[in-house]
Amino acid sequence: MLRYTKIAGLAIVLAVNYQAVAEEAKEEAKIFPPLAPLGEPPVPPDNKQSDAKVELGKILFFDPRIGGDTSTACSTCHEPSQGWAFSDDLSKGYPGTVHWRNSQTVINSAYYSKLFWAGSALSLEKQAPSAAKGGVAGNGENDLMEARLALIPEYRKRFNEIFGTEWPLIGDAWRAIAAFERTLIQRDTPLDKYLMGDKSSLNDQQIKGMDIFTGKGGCIQCHNGALATDEHYYNIGVPPSKRWEEDGLAQITFRFEMYAKGSNEELYRSAKADPGLYFRSKNKWDKGKFRVPSLRYTAHTAPYMHNGAFYTMEEVVDFYDRGGVDEEGRTTGWPDNKSPLIKPLGLTDSEKEDLLAFIEAFSGDEVTIEEPTLPKYAPLFTKAELEALEK
Ligand code: HEC
Ligand code: HEC
Repeated sequence: MLRYTKIAGLAIVLAVNYQAVAEEAKEEAKIFPPLAPLGEPPVPPDNKQSDAKVELGKILFFDPRIGGDTSTACSTCHEPSQGWAFSDDLSKGYPGTVHWRNSQTVINSAYYSKLFWAGSALSLEKQAPSAAKGGVAGNGENDLMEARLALIPEYRKRFNEIFGTEWPLIGDAWRAIAAFERTLIQRDTPLDKYLMGDKSSLNDQQIKGMDIFTGKGGCIQCHNGALATDEHYYNIGVPPSKRWEEDGLAQITFRFEMYAKGSNEELYRSAKADPGLYFRSKNKWDKGKFRVPSLRYTAHTAPYMHNGAFYTMEEVVDFYDRGGVDEEGRTTGWPDNKSPLIKPLGLTDSEKEDLLAFIEAFSGDEVTIEEPTLPKYAPLFTKAELEALEK
């Protein structure tokens, strides 16, 4: 087998035997960005944080009037007591639908450079309208949402003070929500403390688990750096949603999404699994690929994967140990695209226990807040003002 490596502009041809390949794999393992403590989240220069903006964003996050029929707030599917996500395999959807994907936590979403399972939104400011207006999520209309905000005096006052506009603009609502999300972070986990020098914050079992994570388990190949994700896309073999077999509404929602996202007719009729990144690239090699999620906060966000295929972390670890196959032998609906990095690991029971103990170190306590009181509607004009206007 021949392999070409370029060093300082010189092409060196190496004939390598199996042993050397294994050595090289070890070398490569070292070049993944190491796990690291999480810093402050990045803040875009055109949406600076302020206490008033964060407070407004928090109220809006819990307000179902930011949406279609005033039934569905961000918090409906990102419920603080459910890991700031929704603890069904597939998320709740807008009334009359079931979502076709698992709801992701918003904790630490401030650190991603691309959001959603297939990375389709590049900032929190762009993600929020996509959620509030998406047909199976908030299903809102800009004009109507803006009109509702205008009829709530407290919002008029707050938007005016923060953004300087006479009337609330919906684009500023997304900016406020994004600012609030930048406060929903967790960076004092046992792992952060350990990596910052407090060696007592991981126990011996967790330290053994960390070795498996970065070695035999190969998790570090994709779950690396401070956020435990390289933010690339892979098809790791997650089998299609079982829920689709039982829940016609979830299938209908999925077909609707296929259509809305511009799939060709053949795929629209035949797809039995979520094509993931393919929705965006229309490249057949992207079918079944998803953005690597962070492992932070996962102690609170079961079930796991883009379709909630696994209810426990034990199932996740067994799935990886089998090489991306579930206990019934099922794997991705797009097997041609399955990543070669996913292969049977041969972990012993105690190695699995160690790995599970280590994964817990990515999470601290639940992030809780005092939920805001929603401000009330009031007529824009008093009766006297209206009469004066009519004259
Ligand atoms: C009806 C349920 C529902 C509603 C309402 C909803 N979401 Fe989501 N949210 C989801 C689901 C499901 C996903 C994953 C969807 C996907 O990847 O296609 C998601 C993904 C996200 C993500 C991406 C996280 C990541 O790791 O990339 C953020 C951030 C988010 N939502 C914030 C919001 C905000 C802000 C609102 C309100 C404006 C909102 N959501 C409303 C269900 C919902
Ligand atoms: C080839 C890259 C790759 C490797 C190696 C890898 N993962 Fe993943 N991981 C992913 C991707 C991509 C997803 C999302 C897949 C999906 O939803 O279809 C994921 C999802 C997860 C999730 C679910 C998180 C959530 O929020 O739902 C957990 C937990 C996880 N991986 C743990 C691990 C562990 C433990 C290992 C090592 C045994 C590992 N991963 C190895 C790419 C990888």
